[in-house]
Amino acid sequence: MNESFKKKILCIGAGYVGGPTMAMIAHKCPQYKVTVVDINPDRINEWNSENLPIYEPGLYEIVKSSRGKNLFFHTDVKKGIQESDIIFVSVNTPTKTFGVGAGMAADLQYWEKTARQILECSQSPKIIVEKSTLPVKTALAMERILSSADSGIHFEVLSNPEFLAEGTAVKDLENPDRVLIGSSLTESGLKARDELVEIYENWVPRKQIITSNIWSSELSKLVANAFLAQRISSINAISDLCEKTDADVSEVANAIGMDSRIGDRFLKASVGFGGSCFKKDILNLVYLCRNYGLTEVADYWESVVRINEYQKKRFVLNMLKAMFNTLADKKICLLGFAFKADTGDTRETPALYIANKLLEENAKLVISDPKALKNAKKDLKEAKGDISYVEDPYQAAKGCHAIAILTEWALYTELDYRKIYDSMEKPAFLFDGRNIVSHQEIYEIGFNVYPIGKPALKHF
Ligand code: UDX
Ligand code: UDX
Repeated sequence: MNESFKKKILCIGAGYVGGPTMAMIAHKCPQYKVTVVDINPDRINEWNSENLPIYEPGLYEIVKSSRGKNLFFHTDVKKGIQESDIIFVSVNTPTKTFGVGAGMAADLQYWEKTARQILECSQSPKIIVEKSTLPVKTALAMERILSSADSGIHFEVLSNPEFLAEGTAVKDLENPDRVLIGSSLTESGLKARDELVEIYENWVPRKQIITSNIWSSELSKLVANAFLAQRISSINAISDLCEKTDADVSEVANAIGMDSRIGDRFLKASVGFGGSCFKKDILNLVYLCRNYGLTEVADYWESVVRINEYQKKRFVLNMLKAMFNTLADKKICLLGFAFKADTGDTRETPALYIANKLLEENAKLVISDPKALKNAKKDLKEAKGDISYVEDPYQAAKGCHAIAILTEWALYTELDYRKIYDSMEKPAFLFDGRNIVSHQEIYEIGFNVYPIGKPALKHF
């Protein structure tokens, strides 16, 4: 093996963030040795195989180009720590489910365990990079843990939040809007920061690499996600009003999005946002605000999550009402289970909430998705009721009373809806939770069509 690498980078946590980020660094910086470790051996085996543990367009090609050369995946965390100069920490930080702050605060147990393990195994100075999204001031806690032993080893902690979105991870990593690096403003902090800047400069223009103090960096990640989620809740709130007033939410979004101060992105009304980050990070922000006694500020941000819950609930109630107030024994086809297109990830997916609510109404579910059926089965393992999983959308819709489009997979825009209509029970309903199909055309085929934020098209 070529041991003449310039620096050795380790990443602890081979998840949705750690895996793709390290693959990109290895791909762009052949002079660095990049190792990714994880306590889960199955995950590591998958990273070393042709079937990566996560689906991301273009990711396999990038992994393949570096794996075995300067990109390695294994489970020996201790060895990884000992060998490395720079350690990225990318373990998960879910919402706490127990004790103080349950349902709100971040669960930092994996993260703290990792800090202690770094301290225990290190024999030389290291730069520690927080990649996980963490509450403000966590870097300070990490620094305290790392300086708690008298080994004399110096650790410099940096914050480098990841802004990639799932489904476009490779594109986002290759052409990021910006890379943010927070450091302490001491001489050693700035030196460590420059080392990290040097890595990103291999492919990101210097003016897009921005630096700040650690706390601004930690907070910026929470605020970015809060602002993005807030836009979705804002347009979703308006979608409710549109349905009552015969306005069309897409026309409203288009009209306001052309105001360059507002901008046209993240204005798609939907069945609600999902994903591992938005809800978790907002609740984290809310918890921080409450902690500092900022009740009004906390309530303001919490309402973004409340509107999202409301949007999901409203979708199911609309289905119930449209289908004559009873769903018992009716077969409903869910097209899409992933929280967004181009991923198999189902964390916080609105589809799970909707599936559970429909089952409570004694509906029979047929769930279809091109990439997320494995996760859907896991998510619904405990659910009681009649559920089947069918990847082919035509087979899935056969004999159903209704279709609900829950993920914006491009494939659902290209289906032969006449063929589907002919195979369904009548009257046939289509609920478009993503506004991705042509509602007028589908109505003309014979469907009763219920978009989000637009008047329904009904035959009765
Ligand atoms: C990331 C971030 O780290 C999280 O803070 C952010 O808010 C969302 O994105 P993600 O990569 O999506 O998390 O998480 P996940 O896919 O669950 O990956 C975390 C990995 O860390 C898992 O593979 C897990 O096995 C591993 N892990 C966890 C360790 O290796 N050691 C631990 O002690 C805990
Ligand atoms: C998000 C952030 O975009 C990313 O910067 C951060 O690092 C992690 O969290 P992600 O959750 O992967 O990324 O996906 P994103 O594209 O932001 O979508 C989140 C949810 O919002 C999805 O359920 C999506 O369908 C929904 N959404 C998005 C809408 O409902 N309407 C929109 O206009 C945009």
